[in-house]
Amino acid sequence: MCGIIGYTGNKKCVPILIEGLRTLEYRGYDSAGVTVANSGELVTVKSKGRLDDLENKLKSQDELTGTCGIGHTRWATHGEPSDKNSHPHSTSNLSLVHNGIIENYAEIEEMLISAGYSFSSETDTERGAKLVDMFYKKSNDPIDAIKNAISVIRGSYAFGIIFKAHEDTVYAVRKDSPLIVSHSDKGGFIASDIPALLGYTSKYYRLDEGVIAVVKKDSVSFCDTDGNSVDQKEETVSWNVEQAQKGGFPHFMIKEIHEEPEAIRKTVEPRIKNGLPYFGIEALDGCKLSSFEAIHIVACGTAMHAGLVGKALIEKLARTPVNVEVASEFRYRDPILGKNDLVILLSQSGETADTLAALRLAKSMGVYTLAIVNVIGSSVAREADSVLYTWAGPEIAVASTKAYSVQCALLYLLAIRIALSKKMIDEQTASGICSSMVEKIPASIEQALKMNDAVRDVASKLVSSEHLFYIGRDIDCALCTEASLKLKEISYIHSEAYAAGELKHGTISLITEGIPVIALVTVSKVCEKTVSGIREVRARGAYTVCVATKELAEKYDIPCDEMLVLPETDELLAPFTAATILQLLAYHVSALKGLDVDKPRNLAKSVTVE
Ligand code: F6R
Repeated sequence: MCGIIGYTGNKKCVPILIEGLRTLEYRGYDSAGVTVANSGELVTVKSKGRLDDLENKLKSQDELTGTCGIGHTRWATHGEPSDKNSHPHSTSNLSLVHNGIIENYAEIEEMLISAGYSFSSETDTERGAKLVDMFYKKSNDPIDAIKNAISVIRGSYAFGIIFKAHEDTVYAVRKDSPLIVSHSDKGGFIASDIPALLGYTSKYYRLDEGVIAVVKKDSVSFCDTDGNSVDQKEETVSWNVEQAQKGGFPHFMIKEIHEEPEAIRKTVEPRIKNGLPYFGIEALDGCKLSSFEAIHIVACGTAMHAGLVGKALIEKLARTPVNVEVASEFRYRDPILGKNDLVILLSQSGETADTLAALRLAKSMGVYTLAIVNVIGSSVAREADSVLYTWAGPEIAVASTKAYSVQCALLYLLAIRIALSKKMIDEQTASGICSSMVEKIPASIEQALKMNDAVRDVASKLVSSEHLFYIGRDIDCALCTEASLKLKEISYIHSEAYAAGELKHGTISLITEGIPVIALVTVSKVCEKTVSGIREVRARGAYTVCVATKELAEKYDIPCDEMLVLPETDELLAPFTAATILQLLAYHVSALKGLDVDKPRNLAKSVTVE
């Protein structure tokens, strides 16, 4: 969601800003712009559309040789995608880029109108830029202006600002929206995410809230809002440029699906000690775990769907009630949380605004919070009582795949740990599941990936569909919710996930001749029931695709038009291979339709606004 880059150094900044924005394209955007401090002027060029459109506009700007500037990719919130609503927003003194939402922008607008300002865009950001300008006119001091502006602004922001009178300096400040700063012999940078900096340095500072960064070409300093100098912790990126590139695959999504076996190995293996799950966190390894009476898993989108898989596993193994909830609902619905409950926040990015707000709410209610997060040092990770990182590496494609699989794997380990602490399973059983996870999950996903061509063939039969259904029971039902989201978001085909037994309570009226129904069959206990559901839709003309475990496909006569048989593995591990196959299916439908698989329309990778 929106990308920020800022640079000051010895090189012409336009190519550096554009390159930085390209690495952030995955976050989703609909317009882009740059401002360059150029021979005493701030020159802004912006454009609706893709970065190529911005670059075309910049081609006629040969005189833009300045070495300090800011750039932005915008994902529209206030006002449609257009040239005038794009960032940066400028005044005669400064230029500003912004990620986040200024909630009290209307109030600020009134204040600015009284001070004689007028506006040319519909954005909250223009109001923010002019507010900084208003204070700057009083003091001529950038830090004083920023400090006063943020004391008025309510909402979330990551600001990058350059001032005409300080044309070698980039200023930055943030609240509830990520922003990092780095400095090396290649110059000073600010960015909304690590990929933008990887080509220059592996060291960075994750800016603390309320700290103002002053980035010059040969130095970086930080101060608090009283102007006192403060330190920020320098961190090192644990991945490299290659990991943030496609590595020979046509899209990041397919590359990331292929990274699942390794990601699961990295996430699971180090957490097994003496054959049993071990997290290195007192609350999870010690006796506290058995005292949690109920668990609430709070997340958004794909992460929430991983939560549904977690619920199935925890309830099955540990017999502990689990409530899975969408974070945007949880935060406003006055949830009932017991003092002995555990709230788990699941998030790939660790910056999702709703998940962060849900975390803060749970903490304010005195409930123990555990974050399961992929991005190290992200806001959710930092604020929760404890954090378990999924070591999936960078996920660039907007559609989440490997992050989902590792979230499910980590929840599985947690389910085993809780079951042990509640004495629902013995150590021998637990250790048996753990060793199967290590030995079999990555290997069976590798086998599933070999089914790529067969999956593409099935996908080719679905590309012209307008609607389709996923059905399953038990944990398959949870998997269907994610399979359906994956298909919808990248192929633009409408799909619904249904519990196979629920169709006949209404939705079956939508099943007509040729409507594809994808049935997931991995749970032996309910296999015959799911098969009945398949027969019901076939009787109404559905075109049925079945994804089944080898064992069940051999044992039962499953009626279908297409069959994808999963590689042989233990029943409790089948969800992992099924998830991979369903991700591949969505991928191929989108790729065969010639769509922009990695950057689906209207979507952003990290949703840092409400
Ligand atoms: C879909 C997808 C989103 C995210 C959701 C939460 O493929 O990626 O549904 O899962 O926006 O994001 P995180 O996990 O970063 O909190």
